[in-house]
Amino acid sequence: MHRENTLTPANLIWPLFVTEGTGVEEPVASLPGVSRWSVDGIVARAKEAVALGIPCLALFPNTQPERRSEDGREALNPDNLMCRAIRAIKDACGEDIGVLTDVALDPYTSHGQDGLIDAAGYVLNDATVEMLVGQSLNQAAAGADIIAPSDMMDGRIAAIRAALEGEGHSNIQIMSYAAKYASAFYGPFRDAVGSSGLLKGNKKTYQMDPANAEEALREVAMDLAEGADSVMVKPGLPYLDIVRAVKQRFEVPVFAYQVSGEYAMIEAAVTVGAGDRDALVLETLLAFRRAGCNGVLSYHAAHAARLLG
Ligand code: PBG
Repeated sequence: MHRENTLTPANLIWPLFVTEGTGVEEPVASLPGVSRWSVDGIVARAKEAVALGIPCLALFPNTQPERRSEDGREALNPDNLMCRAIRAIKDACGEDIGVLTDVALDPYTSHGQDGLIDAAGYVLNDATVEMLVGQSLNQAAAGADIIAPSDMMDGRIAAIRAALEGEGHSNIQIMSYAAKYASAFYGPFRDAVGSSGLLKGNKKTYQMDPANAEEALREVAMDLAEGADSVMVKPGLPYLDIVRAVKQRFEVPVFAYQVSGEYAMIEAAVTVGAGDRDALVLETLLAFRRAGCNGVLSYHAAHAARLLG
């Protein structure tokens, strides 16, 4: 009776990795229990999510090395892995599931950065925004429900919103990765999308300094002013203070990403007998709700939804 917060499958977004082929499942070594699936497997996961009451999937492609380039132009290919996965899910599940698509160039670049780089390797904000607009329109045409830019360039929300309106996609939402930190917790994700071996340097010129909280509020304010429908804080558990501050200040839908390194920490704890998986999963997800999240992106989403019944 006195319980203040609840967790249900409706609060979960399930991130999935797509790979080429048919009938392919590739386990990701640094994310035990998580696999890359070929498009047919992704459709099976989508049906599983619908049955579990999970309202939304987040898709990330593992682009073949020969399709990666300096400028990441595969992101604009209407038949790229991402677009094929979106279409297949929408054909199979229609409006029963939302498809949230990642906008950033790192799964498509030969250098693993989220944007275009100059000769010194510095990521170019405005030139990158033009590519991100093209990538967003490409995903929108394939049937994406929510465009989710994870690149952290400035000004991209306004540019993407204007382009979507211009093409008649006025009902497509934008969930902005607004406060995304240059974190050490992303390692297994980079393995999963195949960019870890390619990445030189770091992403500190565009992702946020973990020391900063006020800057997160400025980033969120800009993205909301530019037309974001919801905002995300990332990583998750180490940044719940940011979630709370954003929710209190802006009163908009707020999401957090329990990222790959956080998932891997729980699995590592379970492996050495330091904790109970089910209890750790449910406690951490409930903590996001208590901090103010409307929903959480988590690789444990399907497992949690099963536990929640
Ligand atoms: C990059 C991107 C990253 C994640 C989502 N989109 C990694 C990065 O910024 O290098 C991380 C997600 C995770 O660790 O689970 N556009």
